[in-house]
Amino acid sequence: MSSILKMGIIGYGWVARDYMYPALQKNPRVQLVAACAQHASEMKNLPQTVKKYTEIDEFLKHSALDAVYVATPNHLHAAHTIASIEAGLHVLCEKPLATSLADAEAMIFSAQSAKTVYATAYDQRFHPAHEQVYEQIQQGKLGQITQVKIDYACWLPKNWSVDNWRIDQERAGGGAIIDLAPHGLDLLETLLDDTIVEIKIFEQNVVQDYKVDDGGVLMLRFASGVLGSMHVGYNRPDTLPRRTLEIFGTAGMLRATNTMGQDPGGNLTFIDSATGTQKPIAFDMEKSPFEAQLNGFVNSILVKKIPSRSPEDDLRLFTLLFNALKRETQWH
Ligand SMILES: NC(=O)c1ccc[n+]([C@@H]2O[C@H](COP(=O)([O-])OP(=O)(O)OC[C@H]3O[C@@H](n4cnc5c(N)ncnc54)[C@H](O)[C@@H]3O)[C@@H](O)[C@H]2O)c1
Repeated sequence: MSSILKMGIIGYGWVARDYMYPALQKNPRVQLVAACAQHASEMKNLPQTVKKYTEIDEFLKHSALDAVYVATPNHLHAAHTIASIEAGLHVLCEKPLATSLADAEAMIFSAQSAKTVYATAYDQRFHPAHEQVYEQIQQGKLGQITQVKIDYACWLPKNWSVDNWRIDQERAGGGAIIDLAPHGLDLLETLLDDTIVEIKIFEQNVVQDYKVDDGGVLMLRFASGVLGSMHVGYNRPDTLPRRTLEIFGTAGMLRATNTMGQDPGGNLTFIDSATGTQKPIAFDMEKSPFEAQLNGFVNSILVKKIPSRSPEDDLRLFTLLFNALKRETQWH
């Protein structure tokens, strides 16, 4: 392989168009050579040098491809990842892994038997504020970590998009929880260097007019004894505070606001437990988590840098979440 990674995109909707394509354009070690979406009209902003497909089988025959980014609706992740791995390609696939345990296992088993790289697209690990959180914890600034809290929510009504697959059990695998919680679970394990051993979930559907959950609270127990909680929701008006990460320790706490998500920026504050003093913690306000995630993926292929998290970690967390989500409730 040359020092330029030739990439394709499978699923060219919101996240691929608004986040991955700009990241690809800025990365000198990557060249976008092909894209595939349901409708050719979706790909009209891509240059002529990018070959456009509407059929995955035809796309995978493109001879120049080294790697793909899979950003199709959740129920297609497994099929698209496995087909790409079988075509000899490296894969960066969007979260959540899949909509069933069997599909998630098939994806990761396929990745394990391949000689190519597989990674799940958990971009929030790469946010510079979260990297600072990791550093502060590593340096012992918080003392002994006791509890962690995440609040990650948005407003997602039935008509949020023309074909709103996010509120379709079959295509999304659930509602707010399956969509939003995977980011927080991966982030907390990454920041604490710890393993979640138990998840309990309360689900709700109290506002939105659809048949999947519009919110949930997850209770988390880590191997070290740390306890966590996570509020997620599609029922939080976007004008309210809705993206907060808090890590509590005996020597102090860190609070990150507006750092969870796809964009750079936000705030990070340390509160000293001895004095109660608040101190802002500086981080790179320009660095995009999406660009950094792409760089990490490229490094794992071109310079064989082993990522801190493995596909097995992804499957373990998905299995815990999926099993905790098995529910009796019928909303309507
Ligand atoms: N990491 C993040 O922060 C983040 C943010 C948003 C979305 N996502 C994830 O990315 C994925 C896509 O989300 P989105 O909001 O971009 O969705 P979207 O509906 O905007 O786009 C989906 C794309 O998949 C294409 N597609 C559907 N069926 C296809 C098929 N059979 N073959 C080829 N292409 C097909 C559609 O044409 C469209 O281009 C989801 O899994 C979602 O959970 C992640």
